[in-house]
Amino acid sequence: MIKACIFDLDGVIVDTAKYHFQAWRRLAQELGFDFTETENEKLKGVSRMQSLDLILSWGGVVKTAKEKAALAAKKNDWYVQLISTMTPSEILEGVLEFLNELRSKRVKIGLGSASKNALTILEKIGLRPYFDALIDGNQTTKSKPDPEVFLLGATALGVAPSEAIVFEDAAKGIEAALAGGFWAIGIGAQKDLKESHAVIPGFKNYDFEKITALLRR
Ligand code: BG6
Ligand code: MG
Repeated sequence: MIKACIFDLDGVIVDTAKYHFQAWRRLAQELGFDFTETENEKLKGVSRMQSLDLILSWGGVVKTAKEKAALAAKKNDWYVQLISTMTPSEILEGVLEFLNELRSKRVKIGLGSASKNALTILEKIGLRPYFDALIDGNQTTKSKPDPEVFLLGATALGVAPSEAIVFEDAAKGIEAALAGGFWAIGIGAQKDLKESHAVIPGFKNYDFEKITALLRR
């Protein structure tokens, strides 16, 4: 019996990965190197500081903790600028219909995101009122694949992990959901999200019935 759905934000509800990529790339270029979209895949679901560490390692650049804090702040300023013009038109296809269906079925809705900008984004795209619980990078101390973010979400929603589905586009997020004892549905390509209980390309053409049927297989 599924009583709640917990959504990752970036890559599940909106495609903000492209804005993270733009801002990180600008920073890398300022430091004298570049990185590819394939490398960018590795940043999905990863916290801001861990992302910076990965990027610096790709460029072979070493910085002090103080310099790193300044670089991360600079990237975030650019990112915040990019997301400041987001509108509801950027909600990924099928998401709104699915959220409305969950509401009508009294299935609880939670957010489990690593981002410290999650609330800003939800407000920009007008989805804040749909969420019964919001857990983001401001409340967590451990990054995915640690299950902390989803466990805090389940507690806030008053459900057990086995009663909740986590929707994630990042392999690290799927790992986190499984470690917490949740049902895990990958959003994207099967090859990237092999560990999930099921993978769907997105919410378009998938309703609650169809998704829960995938879990019963
Ligand atoms: C995750 C993204 O949702 O949030 C990562 O997938 C990002 O790419 C992380 O680094 C942290 O986001 P923010 O907005 O706090 O820098
Ligand atoms: Mg994501």
